[in-house]
Amino acid sequence: MINFNYSIPTKIFFGKGQISVLGSQIKKYGSKILLVYGHNSVKKNGLYDKIVSILKYNDIYYCELPNIDPNPRITSVKKGVDLCKKNSIELILAIGGGSVIDCAKAIGAAYYYDGDAWDIVIHPEKITNVLPIASILTIAATGSEMDQYAVISNTETCEKLDTYHPDMYPKFSILDPTYTFTVSANQTAAGTADIMSHILEIYFHNTKGAYLQDRMAEALLKTCIKYGKIAIVEPESYEARANLMWASSLAINDLLNYGIDSVWSVHPIEHELSAFYDISHGVGLAILTPYWMEYVLNDNTVDKFKDYGINVWGLSADEDKFKIAHESIKKTRDYFLSLGLPSSLKEIGISDDKFSQIVNKIANNKTVGNFVPLNARDIMTILKNSL
Ligand code: NZQ
Ligand code: ZN
Repeated sequence: MINFNYSIPTKIFFGKGQISVLGSQIKKYGSKILLVYGHNSVKKNGLYDKIVSILKYNDIYYCELPNIDPNPRITSVKKGVDLCKKNSIELILAIGGGSVIDCAKAIGAAYYYDGDAWDIVIHPEKITNVLPIASILTIAATGSEMDQYAVISNTETCEKLDTYHPDMYPKFSILDPTYTFTVSANQTAAGTADIMSHILEIYFHNTKGAYLQDRMAEALLKTCIKYGKIAIVEPESYEARANLMWASSLAINDLLNYGIDSVWSVHPIEHELSAFYDISHGVGLAILTPYWMEYVLNDNTVDKFKDYGINVWGLSADEDKFKIAHESIKKTRDYFLSLGLPSSLKEIGISDDKFSQIVNKIANNKTVGNFVPLNARDIMTILKNSL
């Protein structure tokens, strides 16, 4: 039986030209902001200049934290907290993808915490208050623009962990698909795989009666499958970029998840791979997901794979259910390959030499996921199969 409280507080301004609301939206929270952004994409495509001119026009004071790395580091979070304190910042504006938005969220949470910022990553329960966050999204992938999570890396301890708090939902996010026209084919592919993985992590659940959520998940998967490919071939297709962008937000903003008891399986494994090898999140997911699917397919789970094969991949319902399930997994792998993504860890330079350490971090005396709970031995097998 599904049972839930609904609340998705982020205001979304979706579509071309929605940046026009920026000044008035910021002023609801104050007039001193911290701009957080990545390396050079926002300067190269002109978005940075546009934002700065809007801020100047509206008399909004800003200071800057540039150069946020993909897989954002706790060291950047600490720098951001210092800037916020020195400049009496009232709102943090993230311009970028998941890495930049996550970094902004962690800065907002660490701002109110007296101890070491890493504590609030390991212990989300220590977060009591968060400076208001807003985002201007430039890549469709993580859904951070409309969720309450932040994933932060610590290169000293080789950890990449997610933290969360209801006040970490951005207050507002501007989603203009034209800002994603410059995303490279590789990053578009990785982003599409990430969106699909978020949906799949929820879709493969054991809750009875979640018919509507399952059909919504299938519609979102079909949207990614259709438009991921088009966006790579036609990077300036507004239709493709818009559909991917909205799918990225809807995949993980809890809409699909309400009432479903889903504990994720592939993400915790990928996060540790990223922590040890600093790989692109979506690339790791594209490799691991089909191997995870093969590993968890059994008599108890086959019916879900059958639905997946028929409703998402259009396979014939007349075939044997295991045949449909295997074919659906093959379709998933082939799709990622068709986007130019790798299908083995070796292709991205990963061998088994750190697998024991990685498995220890992921499944130290605990299981991972709940569609089929995975223990350390299961995870080791999935990783070895993925080589
Ligand atoms: O640094 P710049 O120059 O901006 O380049 C970025 C970066 O190299 C580039 N890029 C972004 N927008 C662009 C662009 N290049 C050209 N044109 C544009 N418009 O793309 C590269 C990747 O950016 P990044 O922000 O790292 O990508 P993504 O959005 O995939 O974020 C990945 C991070 O989010 C975490 C991941 O683990 C990873 O650390 N996640 C966050 C989640 C959340 N908050 O809910 C959930 C996810 O599962 C995920 O774990
Ligand atoms: Zn993800």
